Amino acid sequence: MGDGVAETQQFYTRWAGLYDALASHTPGIGGLRERAITRLAPARGDTVVEMGCGTGANFPYLRERVGSEGTVVGVDLTGGMLAEARARIEREGWENVHVVAGDAARPPVADADAVFASFVSGMLADPAAAVDTWADLVDEGGRLGLLDLARSTRPVGRSLNVLFAGLVFAGLPSKRRADAAEAPRLLDNRVVAAQQALRERCTDVHYSTHALGFARLAAGTVE
Ligand SMILES: C[S@@+](CC[C@H](N)C(=O)[O-])C[C@H]1O[C@@H](n2cnc3c(N)ncnc32)[C@H](O)[C@@H]1O
Repeated sequence: MGDGVAETQQFYTRWAGLYDALASHTPGIGGLRERAITRLAPARGDTVVEMGCGTGANFPYLRERVGSEGTVVGVDLTGGMLAEARARIEREGWENVHVVAGDAARPPVADADAVFASFVSGMLADPAAAVDTWADLVDEGGRLGLLDLARSTRPVGRSLNVLFAGLVFAGLPSKRRADAAEAPRLLDNRVVAAQQALRERCTDVHYSTHALGFARLAAGTVE
């Protein structure tokens, strides 16, 4: 948390291959992605922009929803992650899935029918402002969806929060000692801020928690 762009790019480029394996094959992760994108509910033919798309682990689910007549655009600022995403697109032969290098806080796209972001809110210095920007890209009636991890508030999950905090620290681009204590709280605050911003810009908001309460999903229709 609080890391600079250069540190984020260096970290994720170094670990892009491993990240891709974990992002696609960790038990339960596919179901979580599918559930979040079902809640996002883009229509066939829509253009969906995924902010912080990483290696494109959501692309199969997004593409399935929008169909071959729709378009999926992934935005990320890390070259190594985008390289993995491009390799996936080429491997699958998808002609309607594209990636573009850029900052999700100032997205290099003009408009979209739906915007989705997973496991990204916690990396943004001002997630509420970013979500607001994303809502501006979406025409009235379009969709906005977020999937994030944060500490659990459920009784069973709470007992595992220390373990979760260790994983959060392991996943930080920079391992400053001060971040170890700070990171889980900062992650929680950023996820809450992002999801609160979604609530403020959307109607028909769905919110749910999964995976013992560690996964938080929010989706709604932009007003
Ligand atoms: C934890 S990964 C999540 C990747 C993907 N969304 C997924 O669900 O697997 C976070 C990604 O966000 C990207 N990222 C972080 N800050 C960003 C920003 N400001 N703009 C664009 N991408 C960003 C990183 O490069 C990384 O690929």
